[in-house]
Amino acid sequence: MQRRHLLSLAVTVSLAVSGSACKKKDDAGGAGAAGSGKAEAGEIVIGHYASMTGNTAHFGQDTDKAARLAADQLNAAGGVLGRKLKVVTFDTRGDGAEAANAVTRLIDVEKANAILGEVASSLSLQGGPIAQRRKIPMVSPSSTNPKVTQVGDYVFRVCYIDPFQGKVMATFARQTLKFDKVAILKDVKNDYSIGLADAFQKAFVAAGGTIAIEQSYSAGDTDFSAQLTAIKSSGAQGIWVPGYYAEVGAIARTAARLGVKVPLMGGDGWDAPELFTIGGEALNGSYFSNHFAPDQASPLAQKFVADFKAKYGQEPTGLGALGYDGVMVIADAIKRAGGTAPAGLRDALAATKDYEAVTGKITMDKDRNPEKSVVVLKIDGGKAKYESLVSP
Ligand code: PHE
Repeated sequence: MQRRHLLSLAVTVSLAVSGSACKKKDDAGGAGAAGSGKAEAGEIVIGHYASMTGNTAHFGQDTDKAARLAADQLNAAGGVLGRKLKVVTFDTRGDGAEAANAVTRLIDVEKANAILGEVASSLSLQGGPIAQRRKIPMVSPSSTNPKVTQVGDYVFRVCYIDPFQGKVMATFARQTLKFDKVAILKDVKNDYSIGLADAFQKAFVAAGGTIAIEQSYSAGDTDFSAQLTAIKSSGAQGIWVPGYYAEVGAIARTAARLGVKVPLMGGDGWDAPELFTIGGEALNGSYFSNHFAPDQASPLAQKFVADFKAKYGQEPTGLGALGYDGVMVIADAIKRAGGTAPAGLRDALAATKDYEAVTGKITMDKDRNPEKSVVVLKIDGGKAKYESLVSP
């Protein structure tokens, strides 16, 4: 009920904004805004750019809910340095040009003090350079491709990176599942998928395994039968599918239909309830890595899950946990910086050390990436269940 209300509010506001503010050409088709409007004096503005609609809508929606939960809790406790936090959200629709447009407007029009976003690495790679050029700190909650923070010293993240995630899953495939030969099926339109395919391949081969066959698809594809037919005859004992939930769900169904019996394995991009509605039974026996497992959580994480459920009537995914942590890490840095002046805030973010977050302790390394544990999950009976935790 409350969820419906929130979503319809976001849509109404976004329609109102695109209806009234589309005079400039670069605003046309621009990102929708939720909670937009000028900040009151003294408010701290967190500009969130996120896929609220489109093929990866779950990513943006879950992150946004959690970011708003964090802001509400901080505000209920008196705000940050006595100032209220305001989250302004622009929809990227999962599109690169929209992502760049959203960050531009969040900074230039909404006067964001910090940017939260994006989930998808390809989109953070569009938004990051804009935040960097304008020198407004950006924190990606969940983009795991190494290139994201290489954009510059104003770009941070609160999640682990893919060389580690890929290695954990390659080691799992090799040592726990005892696979000698696996297939790779990657999305060539997605920086995350390309990078995670590469990380897995390197680690699997270094551990003595072989890649039986490599196949690819493009985000938005719906027919995967040619690739899976080729994989079926390759002798692979498992298939590494580092993609996003919509395509992965369809891949699982096609695999089952074609009689491909080997498990699928993937990364954090699988993390959405829609994976199960699309992939169904076909996913049982598959494995994926993630940032957080609700059934294996610390007291802090359990409180987050309970608060999220109470507010929205549904379980958060790992994305929600990271969105919450992203806002909290920004707020913590603002406190330590004593304000929102961009250079001071940047320095305080860079100095983040042993911050107790829902997804684990966060310490920024010199490249603005935290080292964090990877959770391995097994899909069983249409649900993801905690399998193991691997620390760096
Ligand atoms: N790590 C993915 C990326 O970089 C995004 C993602 C994170 C998706 C967590 C789902 C869950 O593109």
